[in-house]
Parts: sequence; C-alpha cells; structure tokens
Amino acid sequence: MKPTDIDTNPALISKPIQLSSGEPALLRPLQRDDAHRLGPYFINLSAETRRLYAPHAFDQETADRICAELDSSQALRLLATRGSGAAEEVIGYFILVFGVHEGDRKRYEQLGIGLDGTTDCTLAPSVADVYQSTGLGSIMLEHLYQIARNCGRKRMVLWGGVRQDNPRAVHFYRRFGFVEKGQFPAGGVDNYDMIAPL
Ligand SMILES: CC(C)(COP(=O)(O)OP(=O)(O)OC[C@H]1O[C@@H](n2cnc3c(N)ncnc32)[C@H](O)[C@@H]1OP(=O)(O)O)[C@@H](O)C(=O)NCCC(=O)NCCS
Repeated sequence: MKPTDIDTNPALISKPIQLSSGEPALLRPLQRDDAHRLGPYFINLSAETRRLYAPHAFDQETADRICAELDSSQALRLLATRGSGAAEEVIGYFILVFGVHEGDRKRYEQLGIGLDGTTDCTLAPSVADVYQSTGLGSIMLEHLYQIARNCGRKRMVLWGGVRQDNPRAVHFYRRFGFVEKGQFPAGGVDNYDMIAPL
C-alpha cells in the first residue's frame, strides 16, 4: 500500500472495532467533509488533554483548515468514530506523519541518531477524555503500526517527544516498544524523545 492511495480509497485503512463497553466503533481516515465532526472533537478536549497534547490549535477554524488542506500521503489523521450518519462522533484522533519534523530530526541528530524522512514516521495521538484509559488508544496504535509497516516505514518517533509528567502516555508508548533516547526541556518540563522499531 502507498500513502497516496489513502485519500482515493479511504476504505483501504478503515476497520470496524469494538470498544471496551461492547459498543461498535469505526477506525477510518479523516476526509475532507469531516470538519463538522473534527471541530467538536477539538473543542471538547479538556484543558488537561490540551496541556499534554499540542500538535496544533484545537478550534473549529483549525478543523476547517486541516480538512480543506487534507493530504493523507503527508499526514494521515486516523479517526475513531462512534455512531453513524448525522450522529457520527469523533472519539479518537491520531496523526501519523509519513516523515520527520525538522525539530525532531535535529534533536535526534544531537543524540547521534539519524532519522530518515523516507523510512521513519512521526506519531501524535489523542483520545477523547471520556474514552481515555479504556483501550481505545491501543486499538488505534495497533492499526497505525500495520498501516505504517504496509507503507514501508521502519521506525516511529513521537512528534515533539512526550512530557515526563505524562506517565500514562509514557507507559502506553513503552508497551508498544518505544524506548527513551533523550531528554529535553520544553513547555516548562522535561520531555523524552522516544522511538520504536516497526
Ligand atoms: C495517551 C493516549 C493517546 C493513550 O490512549 P488510551 O486510550 O488512554 O490508551 P489505553 O487505554 O489503550 O492504554 C493506556 C495505558 O496506560 C495505563 N495508565 C493509565 N493511567 C496511567 C498512569 N497514571 N500511569 C501509568 N499508566 C497509566 C493504562 O493502565 C493502560 O495500560 P495497560 O493497558 O498496560 O494497563 C490517551 O490517554 C490520551 O489521549 N491522553 C491525553 C493526550 C496525550 O497524552 N497524548 C499523548 C501526548 S505525547
């Protein structure tokens, strides 16, 4: 599979799942007509989740821009949704960049690790507050690992690392094979750079 196939054929990476409550849900890529679903997801994220997760602003304007400029071959935005039709609601949003951000590449370079934008990829995950710690993030990351591998990616790094005062995320990443490679200050705390083989 090629990342360029995703926007032309979203079904390629769509998958029905079951939440821990037994309720059915769906994993699928964000599409251009999803702005009215993505905006409420952003707006409803708690202050605590926004403190831990900040790849971009969380407002309707940002959701509109992301959907208008959508290019999943650069940055796949995997959604978990529940409900269908007009009632479909976003409950998880994982960004997978097919490449490496310059800031992350520079920090790894200082650690003596050369990141390769053609075979490495970058992760920024989030789950809606009420679904956190229910296993949804694990289902989403498992699916993203398969997609990344199918697209020829060999390693995954975290977008901007992870705050050390986010023990749940650090535990989550370690469980998926991520290891700490360095520490750096940002946002008033120390952060880990973590990388996983795929
Ligand atoms: C990080 C995140 C994406 C993980 O998704 P999730 O659905 O909560 O993850 P899961 O429920 O599959 O797994 C969470 C794990 O953390 C564990 N956990 C929960 N609270 C914990 C804590 N305070 N300390 C350590 N581990 C904790 C759970 O027990 C579970 O591990 P286990 O399956 O080995 O028991 C989600 O919690 C989230 O969106 N957090 C807020 C935003 C964020 O931190 N994003 C990452 C920024 S780098």
